[in-house]
Formats: sequence, C-alpha cells, structure tokens
Amino acid sequence: MSTPHTAQVEFLPLAEAYLDEIMDTELEAYPEPWSRSMFLEEIRNNRSYFYVMLLEGSLAGYGGFWLVLDEAHITSVTVVKRFRGQGLGRRLTLHLLEVARRAGARTATLEVRESNRKAQNLYETLGFRQIARRRGYYPKSGEDALVMLLELDQSTLDGADAGGQSRS
Ligand SMILES: CC(C)(COP(=O)(O)OP(=O)(O)OC[C@H]1O[C@@H](n2cnc3c(N)ncnc32)[C@H](O)[C@@H]1OP(=O)(O)O)[C@@H](O)C(=O)NCCC(=O)NCCS
Repeated sequence: MSTPHTAQVEFLPLAEAYLDEIMDTELEAYPEPWSRSMFLEEIRNNRSYFYVMLLEGSLAGYGGFWLVLDEAHITSVTVVKRFRGQGLGRRLTLHLLEVARRAGARTATLEVRESNRKAQNLYETLGFRQIARRRGYYPKSGEDALVMLLELDQSTLDGADAGGQSRS
C-alpha cells in the first residue's frame, strides 16, 4: 500500500463542495479560524489561487495565495489532522510556490504565529526567512505574527516535488 510520501496527490481548485470538510479542519486547526464566507470569497476573488489537496480521493489539505503584482501572499497552508507529519504540508506548500512562480510571482510571503514552530520549521526548510514581525497581529490572543519571505528563483524549486496533478 502506498504511503502519503509516495501516494498520488491531486490538487484541484477550491470548490463549494469541499467547504463542509474544510470547516471541520479549520475549526480544529486555528484559534482564529476563517468563516465559511471567507472561503467562498476565495472562490470568487480573481486574485486568489486556492487549492484542495486530495490523497486518493480524500481531502488531505488546502491552501492558497493571493497574487498581487509579483508577490504571492500565502493565505493558508493546512493539512487535515490525521494526515499531518507525513510530508503533505511540504507538498502542498511546494505546489503553491510552483503555481505562484508560473503565474509570475517573484517572491512569496506569509504570516505565521510566533508560537507555531511547526509551521515555521516547514517554511524554513523551504528557504523562507523572517523579514519582519507584526505586533499583536492576531486580534483574539494579541499574539505577534512573523512575516516570512522566499525569493522564487528557479533554484528554489529545482528538484522540488510539486506533488501531483493540478487542473489550475
Ligand atoms: C503546519 C502544517 C501545515 C504542517 O504540515 P505537515 O503535513 O504536518 O508537515 P510535513 O509532514 O510536510 O513536515 C514538513 C516540515 O514541517 C516541520 N514539522 C512538521 N511537523 C512538525 C512537528 N511536529 N514539530 C516540529 N516541526 C514539524 C518540519 O520542519 C518538517 O520537516 P521534516 O519532516 O523534514 O522535519 C500542519 O501541521 C497543519 O496543518 N497545522 C495546522 C494549521 C497550521 O498551523 N498551518 C500553518 C499556518 S501558518
């Protein structure tokens, strides 16, 4: 049987049909989750490139970015709880970076909670570096956000397994 490291993952554009399952994960994963209407807005927003990641047909994650001029601002990288720790967060992020590069982005940026070491590790292993701190960025907790940036030259993504097929 294939494991998530080698199993075929598929990336499809976000669609309303996935929102019930996405909301289950969203509420589990984040202290300040997005609402259903925020995901609907991602479907409508022309600047938003937002994908679900399917593993053998099951929703394994979702994530996206906004393309503003030549910057891809990553808005979400989320793996469904039972699929975490198996390389899928990396595959999802690499997919977003590859789509962003093809769409003309030269840099990728994101905000991450100061306490979210797991996500920071993931981004650091892909070459992101911290460029700023936004104090009190998260309204409920008042926690700071770290702003991270990656330059999307070809070498960043060389050898990367962007993972699976995309119908983007
Ligand atoms: C953060 C998240 C996306 C990582 O996804 P994942 O599939 O578990 O991560 P991967 O298995 O691809 O691991 C990639 C890297 O992340 C880091 N990482 C993953 N799990 C970790 C853990 N338990 N502790 C520390 N670092 C960890 C490591 O650097 C790892 O690389 P390595 O395997 O070479 O050590 C996932 O935990 C998640 O969805 N969390 C909830 C939502 C969230 O916080 N999203 C990020 C918002 S900025």
